[in-house]
Amino acid sequence: MTVAPQFQFKNGVLHAEDIPLPELADQYATPLYVYSRRALREAWERYARAIAGRNALICYGMKANSNLAVLHEFQRLGAGFDIVSGGELARALAAGAAPGKIVFSGVGKQAWEIRQALSANIKCFNVESAAELERLADIALEMGLRAPMSLRVNPDVDAHTHPYISTGLKENKFGVDIAAAPALYRQAMQHPGLDIVGVDCHIGSQILEIAPYLDALGKLIDLILELRADGIELRHLDLGGGLGIRYTDETPLDPADLLDPVFSTLEARGLGHLQLILEPGRSLVGNAGILLTRVEYLKRTPVRNFAIVDAAMNDLMRPALYEAWHDVEPVAPRAGQTNRVYDIVGPICESGDWLARQRELPIEQGDLLAIMSAGAYAFSMASQYNARPRAAEVLVDADQAHLIRPRESIQDLYASERIPARG
Ligand code: LLP
Repeated sequence: MTVAPQFQFKNGVLHAEDIPLPELADQYATPLYVYSRRALREAWERYARAIAGRNALICYGMKANSNLAVLHEFQRLGAGFDIVSGGELARALAAGAAPGKIVFSGVGKQAWEIRQALSANIKCFNVESAAELERLADIALEMGLRAPMSLRVNPDVDAHTHPYISTGLKENKFGVDIAAAPALYRQAMQHPGLDIVGVDCHIGSQILEIAPYLDALGKLIDLILELRADGIELRHLDLGGGLGIRYTDETPLDPADLLDPVFSTLEARGLGHLQLILEPGRSLVGNAGILLTRVEYLKRTPVRNFAIVDAAMNDLMRPALYEAWHDVEPVAPRAGQTNRVYDIVGPICESGDWLARQRELPIEQGDLLAIMSAGAYAFSMASQYNARPRAAEVLVDADQAHLIRPRESIQDLYASERIPARG
């Protein structure tokens, strides 16, 4: 069983849409990230249906996968973007994003990034601290502009997800304490460099329940009504991203499962006029990609069988970092192969370099494996550790494959480095 309909077995061989994966491995070599354009579009459509006829904007959380081709696809479908750095702003603009649909999150915005985003005329800065509010106001004033801003509040709700990707609890570094928000908004109100436009939160990632969102929404609505009583009218409410996907047997929420109750709550509390913003990342791209890898060696030790593959933690660090589960599919299993229990590991010199553990699979040396659900937080978190060039990315559209990022060359790894002259 694969987790995305665009990656299916046909005649015993795993395909990306209409292309057999072995063809892609022959043409582009491995390791290789393979994305399905149809899967991207279908994930987008689920959000589009959920917001149809509503005042809402989907800002793709582009940290999940920021390849220009992926951004361009979503931009054409009408997406805005949630960025967290000047680099992401530049990427979004290079992909044709409308600045008026870009929101800027993140706890550590530097002055140059703020200037760049103000010059680009983005939709909103999601401000995460009192110190950032001051910096943003000063820079805007110095540029003769008013910075459109929201406070990212920390609603102190438990999203029931991995501690490293949970962001809405009091002890996290994100956002401002919701109790401190009214005073900060009043301060912002006085500042000529600031234009208050909304409120924002993001409570975590890979969330599989509606309740934490509705808890957060309730707290945000209380805040909005309190601000209204103070004469501060907001125009939008940003609920962040975080909807989970299926890695193995999870039952993810459809965006409509979340948005129907959100819209009715807003209406019930007299806030139906607010624009709703979401910042989904993983749920738009996660199941639209796989990481294709080849088995270099099989190795038996007294206590373990290892399948040593040519992909590693530098290509997909989620297992090493979060002990994340990714399904592994042999791409072309043959009759008569024996199943054994393997740890699937990479060539990197770290015991943490594993991609999957204790999987019963029919594997032989030279076989191709597909690491599933690698469309999100895979390439975007990749590194060159152990001087491994980052792998190529291919976007499949029916029976067409587009190379959307070539494999880095060995020279790319150190081309910009300099040995100081002896002196
Ligand atoms: N908005 C903000 C402010 C965020 O910090 C994030 C993700 C998103 C939106 C998108 O969240 P999503 O819809 O993708 O859950 N590397 C981790 C995930 C880190 C998420 C960080 N923030 C992983 O591989 O699971």
